[in-house]
Amino acid sequence: MSNVVWHNTTIKNSDRIQQLNQKPFLLWFTGLSASGKSTIANIVEQILFRMNYKTYLLDGDNVRHGLNKDLGFDEHSRVENIRRIGEVSKLFLDSGTIVLTAFISPFKSDRQLVRKLFEEGEFLEVFIDSPIDICEKRDPKGMYAKARNGEIKNFTGISSPYESPKNAEIHVINNDISPDKAAEQILFYLIDNKYINKNN
Ligand code: ADX
Repeated sequence: MSNVVWHNTTIKNSDRIQQLNQKPFLLWFTGLSASGKSTIANIVEQILFRMNYKTYLLDGDNVRHGLNKDLGFDEHSRVENIRRIGEVSKLFLDSGTIVLTAFISPFKSDRQLVRKLFEEGEFLEVFIDSPIDICEKRDPKGMYAKARNGEIKNFTGISSPYESPKNAEIHVINNDISPDKAAEQILFYLIDNKYINKNN
């Protein structure tokens, strides 16, 4: 992009932050398919919304119907999927919005690349940690069954790796707690670390 020059906007991130009266951050949910990412992210978003925060949730299954509908599940496509979501999240944060993303994002290096797009403290990795046998039992979309019999190739956890985060800011062990409890753990983290104000 050597012939493209960054154009500074007149209205700045600091102006938008002041208008919205919130400090934007990114909650990056990662975990196996059926681990509970979308369910928990939805509850967290609802609660933030009710507290009057301006939020937006980017969800793998939805984004793959539009922006990323040209991408499949081979390694190259997954890397590009996550790269685009990282960049879109950066734009949303620049707009002042609190962003939640729910993508398997199985590769550590891709999550690391997204983290590097943000300032210290803006990127919060949320590992929704459900063992594969539990995810496979839940199998809400029948995808694990299809992956087992070879109908779906490169399925995360079955025929494609999932690299668990080792130092996620928030680690939710999601095998025998309710989605509400899991959401509560995340909200307590946000309050304790002054990302949100419990009195909102
Ligand atoms: S990611 O690996 O590139 O981050 P993403 O979160 O966008 O994945 O999409 C995952 C969703 O796509 C799963 O919840 C599942 O419904 C569906 N899916 C279809 N094929 C696959 C596959 N091979 N591996 C994982 N998920 C798949």
